[in-house]
Amino acid sequence: MKITVVGLGYVGTVAAAGLAKEGHEVLGVDIDRQRIDTLRTGKIPMYEPGLEAWVTSSLREGTLRFVHRDDFAEGIGDAAIIATGTPPTDNGSADLRQVMSAVAWVSSIGPDGLTIVMKSTIPPGAGQRIARRELRGTRIRYASNPEFLREGRAVHDWESPDRIVVGVDSNDEQSVDLIRRMYDGIDAPYLITDVTSAEMIKYASNAFLAARVSFINEIAVLCGAVGASIDTVSDGLAMDSRTGMRIHAGVGYGGSCFPKDVRALDHLALTSGANIDLLRSVIHTNNRQRLLPLHALRQRFDSVLAGTRVGVLGLAFKPETDDVRDAPSLDLIRALVDEGVDVAAFDPRAAESARSSLPPSVRLVDDVAEAADRAQALVLLTEWDHIVNADWQIVARCMTPPRLVFDGRNALDPIEMERLGFEYIGVGRGRAQNGGGGG
Ligand SMILES: NC(=O)c1ccc[n+]([C@@H]2O[C@H](COP(=O)([O-])OP(=O)(O)OC[C@H]3O[C@@H](n4cnc5c(N)ncnc54)[C@H](O)[C@@H]3O)[C@@H](O)[C@H]2O)c1
Repeated sequence: MKITVVGLGYVGTVAAAGLAKEGHEVLGVDIDRQRIDTLRTGKIPMYEPGLEAWVTSSLREGTLRFVHRDDFAEGIGDAAIIATGTPPTDNGSADLRQVMSAVAWVSSIGPDGLTIVMKSTIPPGAGQRIARRELRGTRIRYASNPEFLREGRAVHDWESPDRIVVGVDSNDEQSVDLIRRMYDGIDAPYLITDVTSAEMIKYASNAFLAARVSFINEIAVLCGAVGASIDTVSDGLAMDSRTGMRIHAGVGYGGSCFPKDVRALDHLALTSGANIDLLRSVIHTNNRQRLLPLHALRQRFDSVLAGTRVGVLGLAFKPETDDVRDAPSLDLIRALVDEGVDVAAFDPRAAESARSSLPPSVRLVDDVAEAADRAQALVLLTEWDHIVNADWQIVARCMTPPRLVFDGRNALDPIEMERLGFEYIGVGRGRAQNGGGGG
């Protein structure tokens, strides 16, 4: 099949490379010239394990090409996948301008019978409006095909998705068949539904996961207050088939999807007259969670943080990505700097992408020991192996008392940390282990 992928960010690059790897003829299109130039050399403009190898081999095989939208001068093919961004607007709703611009471009040059496959996350109802208004008078079909990949595991998730959701209206069997052919090499159950339900599945999935994170974080705060251990409580929950997989307590979720999608669903609920109080609590809890380390530091330093030196370990919203969009690190670091803290930050991959979002006084350093240099406290925000498995004995020697470590991901061993001379605070890990601090 010949497929055009419009928008070459985290999702579009994975989709383009994944489909080309299966032997489809794929053309990746973007409006960012620098991005196109980078991709053409076989490099990828983000850190995503395994993706560069896919891109390079498909470029070599000739199944994958990249072109700037302004230079596009050939047929679009059988399907146009749209994977442009849908960032949040100020009121929390999804900004659909990139998507609408992509739809307008595709529909201006797309042939009769083409199917637009919407991978961007757009609010329930938006796809139907696109099909009815923007594609009216054309013979272009429309299908929703939400993407569920996780950054840092995108290559794995593309090859082995839990499910493939396809939303079409008016029994559009042709688009369903086309999407099945497109994913021929992928073994996954299909869920075929209408466009709006497919869109809702994506939002509900993200909101449900975000709610689980906020729930476990609320329970962690309570564990901290009563002296229970959230680690054991999470194990206990995970052993029950009704409550399912283990969710880790910590400083909250971040990234380019959960925060914006929960807010967009909340906005949709408000404007649809279907107020969902729970969503607001999920957002509120997550915002509070991000500042737990600040409160712990204030408590430990008798509210006088000005002049203290704090090392922040991890800037990316999770390990194995360089994405810092809506990362908890950004909120926390800004708050620390506002209080006069001298911040040094380390991340194995995300320092460059974080730089422009951080206050200029923040020193970006090259390793854990440098972040710890003469610091009174360290805050672990991203559980990179590189950070968790640092030589903590050396780290302890670099620091000055009280050698506080706030483990915002409950990734370190509290007993070992205390043995090495750190004051350890986790999130809800119980009085026995952390002296009653933390959430
Ligand atoms: N990042 C994820 O983990 C993830 C996972 C699932 C779904 N999603 C959803 O997928 C969509 C894309 O996310 P992303 O993180 O890849 O976005 P991104 O911001 O990383 O990339 C978007 C790309 O689209 C390009 N673009 C913008 N307007 C364009 C236009 N008119 N024509 C061509 N290209 C254009 C941009 O230059 C950029 O390269 C979003 O709706 C997101 O919510 C993202």
